[in-house]
Amino acid sequence: MRTVDLRSDTVTKPTLEMREAMARAEVGDDVLGEDPTVKRLEATAAAMIGKEAALFVASGTMGNQVAVLANTARGNEVIVDDQAHIFYYEVGAPAVLSAVQLRPVAGLHGPDALTLIKAAIRDKDNIHYPETTLLCLENTHNRGGGTVMTPEQMRDIYRLAKQYGLSVHVDGARIFNAAVALGRQPVEFARWCDSIMFCLSKGLGAPVGSMLAGSREFVDRARKYRKVLGGGMRQAGILAAAGLVALGSVDRLAEDHIHAKMLARSLAGVPGVQVDLDKVQTNIIVADVSGMGMTSDEFVSVLEERGVLAITFGPTLVRLVTHRDVSREDVEYAIEVINNIN
Ligand SMILES: Cc1ncc(COP(=O)(O)O)c(C=O)c1O
Repeated sequence: MRTVDLRSDTVTKPTLEMREAMARAEVGDDVLGEDPTVKRLEATAAAMIGKEAALFVASGTMGNQVAVLANTARGNEVIVDDQAHIFYYEVGAPAVLSAVQLRPVAGLHGPDALTLIKAAIRDKDNIHYPETTLLCLENTHNRGGGTVMTPEQMRDIYRLAKQYGLSVHVDGARIFNAAVALGRQPVEFARWCDSIMFCLSKGLGAPVGSMLAGSREFVDRARKYRKVLGGGMRQAGILAAAGLVALGSVDRLAEDHIHAKMLARSLAGVPGVQVDLDKVQTNIIVADVSGMGMTSDEFVSVLEERGVLAITFGPTLVRLVTHRDVSREDVEYAIEVINNIN
């Protein structure tokens, strides 16, 4: 039986081209600043995203947490969406590592963003309040269903944040999906933030690694915090080599978006399954299966018996993600399975 793994775009395996680049990679001790391949990856990533510098980190979580450390002081408050990865899935790290308090706000990426953000920023003069110093956005928004925030929305939020002296960090784990979906350049998004993290290891297919980009001064500080977290890797060029190949394959994300739309339409046609097709903008599909009288766990099990892997995203929500290792034939097979669910 065919297996179609739609659990996440993190399941992608390195391509032959990546493995060959890894085998050939020139390496050195990166903690001593001597790994030429890591340096090349950092320079390439910074140029692609339009920031002065970039830092190679072990994971998206590490990139986000280094950014929180470098952008805040103990006791500060950080505004995030209440569904943001930083709040939802990073094990409470901002409290553990940065000793900051998160201020989760529902609807931060929606049409009322400016009003909601303004209302969440603390009055500096009130002795009872923590100081708000950082705002985090997520583009694309994973729990939102892979939805895209436009550069113009980001610009308006950034300008507001600056009026109040806040730094803005973007969890851009899938920022290239956002750029490809809107036909815009990654730099158009990254202009409107102080720091941005993006992943090499999701739809771009690298085995490991993310980039954290910002000003030279920010990245110098971030490099120290990465060391604090034990993230100083030595001959990391072996991983960076795969990252460089990954950065050369951004355009292929468009195929994942087409596949996601195909899957979403078939899911939406199953009686009892609800999919908001307007929200299927990139490579993520979130379906509500409550109308089938099933929990998400049950729905996922039914798919799994037929070789289609998905994950639960809540008691009645199921998430499916398309990626490099899901071919058109895989999508067609998954559609056949979905169409025959009962
Ligand atoms: C939006 C978002 N941010 C951050 C991360 C964290 O990346 P990692 O799994 O590399 O720590 C993920 C991972 O799925 C993500 O979806």
